[in-house]
Amino acid sequence: MTTYLVTGGAGFIGSNHIRYLLNKYKDVKVINLDKLTYAGNPENLSDFADDSRYRFVKGDICDEPLVNQLMEEADVVVNFAAESHVDRSIGSPDDFIKTDIFGAFVLLEAARRTHIDRFIQISTDEVYGSIDKGSFVETDTLMPSSPYSASKTGADRIAFSYFVTYGVPVQITRCSNNFGPFHYPEKLIPLFVTNAIEDKPLPIYGDGLNVRDWIYVEDHCDGIDFVHRHGELGEVYNLGGDNEKTNMEITDYILKKLEKPETLKQYVKDRPGHDRRYSLNCERMHALGWKPKHDFEQAMDKTIQWYLENPEWWQKIKSGEYLEYYKEQYEKR
Ligand code: NAD
Ligand code: DAU
Repeated sequence: MTTYLVTGGAGFIGSNHIRYLLNKYKDVKVINLDKLTYAGNPENLSDFADDSRYRFVKGDICDEPLVNQLMEEADVVVNFAAESHVDRSIGSPDDFIKTDIFGAFVLLEAARRTHIDRFIQISTDEVYGSIDKGSFVETDTLMPSSPYSASKTGADRIAFSYFVTYGVPVQITRCSNNFGPFHYPEKLIPLFVTNAIEDKPLPIYGDGLNVRDWIYVEDHCDGIDFVHRHGELGEVYNLGGDNEKTNMEITDYILKKLEKPETLKQYVKDRPGHDRRYSLNCERMHALGWKPKHDFEQAMDKTIQWYLENPEWWQKIKSGEYLEYYKEQYEKR
């Protein structure tokens, strides 16, 4: 029996990862430690509420006594907990520094004192910064350009230092942009899909030609599990979807699929410090025998269908504090 401590498991990727683990493995226990910030939603895992293998703990990864206590039970830690939205990090970086850097440090310190089998730090392709041509390999220089990506870089390198200095069995994954069910509707794809469904404008930053590499969330979860089973300790693994698209291409795809007019496109002021292009070289994972399994268009269609079938999930989110946040964003532009 393996016990996983998954942090940030009430968010988008964390909840998908817990579902992936519980569906794939019978003999696992999962403890989900999540602070339930605006982005955390325990309903994302309501299908496992009665599963004796799953336990939810509301708490902060910066809470040392709580983390120490949970670490005693854990064999494997997967650290997803983070403030994750670049735009919010530009407006107020404080929580990014606290959670993404200090929180990771608290977890690593607890792991250092306990005999855990694995500590997987979920990093991001944004740590490399922007690249005009070619793709980043794992050994490239890190040049993060937003408070979010700089915080994630801090955690990424602190995790590495705990492997080198203290022998904590760390692995680090750097994934590209995820999409899929339970994605908080402040990020490009869920925002544009839900706005289009509601005939609201789709706010395109700048010229809409920034490029992101998109991966279906289940492939990210599969990649993390693959790294755990087949990767080396102390290594970094790029996880990409091999689907580089401009934001305009994503916008056009969504509008076409939902049969909505081009007039919903609204050009707005650019994001400050907006990275032009992210691109990963994933040869290291390919050489180990891993590749994403999902076709981009099929996964996009499945995702759009999920938002069409689950309006109660996102409509509840897109009210109250969310609307206040967006009003403030637009006033700033
Ligand atoms: P998310 O914002 O949807 O979820 C983050 C979760 O962390 C939420 O449930 C939130 O309540 C929780 N959390 C925040 N602060 C916490 C704290 N102090 N203690 C405990 N829990 C806390 O984010 P996501 O998109 O699911 O991303 C998850 C992780 O994956 C992040 O580390 C992010 O950097 C990384 N990542 C995301 C992507 C992507 O495309 N979304 C790509 C690569 C890497
Ligand atoms: O690359 C991995 C990263 O992807 C993760 O580490 C982050 O946690 C995650 O939020 C995501 O960051 P991005 O900034 O790439 O994602 P976002 O969905 O915010 O934006 C994607 C692109 O779309 C980016 O070029 C900005 C643009 N955009 C975004 C929004 C929300 C718009 O044009 N309009 C919008 O309203």
